[in-house]
Amino acid sequence: MQKYGVNELRRMFLEFFESKDHLAMKSFSLVPHNDNSLLLINAGMAPLKPYFTGQEIPPRRRVCTCQKCIRTGDIENIGKTARHGTFFEMLGNFSFGDYFKTESLHWSWEFLTQVVGLDPDRLYPSIYLDDEEAFKIWNEEIGVPAERIFRFGREDNFWEHGAGPCGPCSEIYYDRGEKYGCGKPDCTVGCECDRYIEVWNNVFSQFENDGHGNYTELAQKNIDTGMGLERLAVVVQDVDSLFTIDTNKALLDRVCQLAGKEYQKDYETDVSLRIVTDHIKSCTFMISDGIMPSNEGRGYVLRRLLRRAARHGRKLGIEGKFLANLSDTVIALSKDGYPELEEKKEFILNVISKEEEQFNKTIDQGLGILAEMISDMEKKEEKNEDKKDGRYLRREFSYSKFQQTMVLPDNVEKDKIEAKVENGVLSISIPKRTEEEAKMAEKVIEIK
Ligand code: GLY
Repeated sequence: MQKYGVNELRRMFLEFFESKDHLAMKSFSLVPHNDNSLLLINAGMAPLKPYFTGQEIPPRRRVCTCQKCIRTGDIENIGKTARHGTFFEMLGNFSFGDYFKTESLHWSWEFLTQVVGLDPDRLYPSIYLDDEEAFKIWNEEIGVPAERIFRFGREDNFWEHGAGPCGPCSEIYYDRGEKYGCGKPDCTVGCECDRYIEVWNNVFSQFENDGHGNYTELAQKNIDTGMGLERLAVVVQDVDSLFTIDTNKALLDRVCQLAGKEYQKDYETDVSLRIVTDHIKSCTFMISDGIMPSNEGRGYVLRRLLRRAARHGRKLGIEGKFLANLSDTVIALSKDGYPELEEKKEFILNVISKEEEQFNKTIDQGLGILAEMISDMEKKEEKNEDKKDGRYLRREFSYSKFQQTMVLPDNVEKDKIEAKVENGVLSISIPKRTEEEAKMAEKVIEIK
C-alpha cells in the first residue's frame, strides 16, 4: 500500500467525491454560525445542520468537505496518551435528501479499496442491529461475507452529537494486524485495543434530536459520513499514533529540536511534547478564524491552550518565546488544505507572540506571589491557626491577581503537604488517606 501523506489523502478524498457529482466546499470556520449549542465546531456535519433539517437550501444536494474541528472536553487528558488531540480534520460526504444507503456504502468501499488501496480482506463493516437494508448492501452487493459484518447496538451504531440530525450508522473498521493487538483470544472488531480501528462512519441521518432526547423524523433522508483524516493517515502510513503521521510528526520533530529532546524516550517529556504539538495547531487555526485570546468563551479556550503550550514548552526547557515559531511550521504544513493560514500568517504570529509575551510576564510576577503564598502557608501552620478537632478545615487560598483558588481536601495532615513551584506551576502534593482522597491528592495549579 502506498503511504500517502495527510495533504494527499485530503485531496484524494475531495476529488473522489467531486467525481461523484459532489460540490467540494471549503472547510467552514471553527466558529459556529447561528448555533448556540456549540462553542467550537466539533464534527464535520456540525456546520451543515441547517441543510439536513431543511432550514437552509444547500448549494448542491451532494456536498463533500474536509472540516477543521476542535474538541476540548477532555483537555486534561490530552498528551497523556497518544490517542487524542484537540485538533482534527473530518472528511465527509453528505447527501441532503439525494442519495441514500446504497451509494454511500458502495462509494466508501470504493474509495478505501480502490483509491487508497486498503486490503479489502482487512476491512470489516458494522451495522445497526436489525438494519437488514445495510446488511444486504454489504453482503450481497459489495460481497463482504456475512461473518465479517458486525451488528452493534445503539451505543456504537447510532450516531448523534448533542442536538441535531442523527440516525443509525454503519462503520468500517480496519484490521491493523496482530502487532497492534491486545493478544486476547476474543480480540475482534469492537475490542478496545488498537488492532481494529474504526476509520469511517456512514450515518443514515433520518432523525432530529431536540437536545432533550426527543426524536422527530426529518422530512428527507440524508447521508452524513465522517472519516477522521488523521486516523485514516495512521492506517495508511502504518504508524502507531496521531502524533507520528507525516504532518504531525514534522511538527513534533520541530518541538523536539527546539527543546533538544527526543520523542519516545521518557513519558513525562512525551506528554509535554504532545501537548505543545497539539495545542499550537489548534491555536493557529483558531486565530485564523478570528478568535482572540480572552477570559471567556472561545477566547478563553484559546488562551488556555496557548498558555498550556507555553508552560509545557518551559517544562521541556525551551527558553524564550517559541510559540510563533512553531505556528509558522503549522502554517507551512497545513496551507495546502487551508490557504487562509498563509494569507493571515502575519496576524496569527503576532497574536501568538503578544499573548506569549504577556504570559511570560505573568509567570515571572506570579512566581513571586506564589512564593509569598507558600511562606504565608508555612507561617499559618506554625501558629496552627486552622486546626480544629484534630482536623484541618477546608482552606482556600485566594490568588486574586490571577483568580486562582486552591482547595485542599478536608482532614489532610498538613505537615505532609509538599508544595513546590517549578516553571510557573505550583504543585501541591497531599498524602493519600482514602481512595477518594488519592484522586484529589495531586493538585497542580497552573497560572492561567
Ligand atoms: N458525522 C458522522 C461522524 O462524524 O462520524
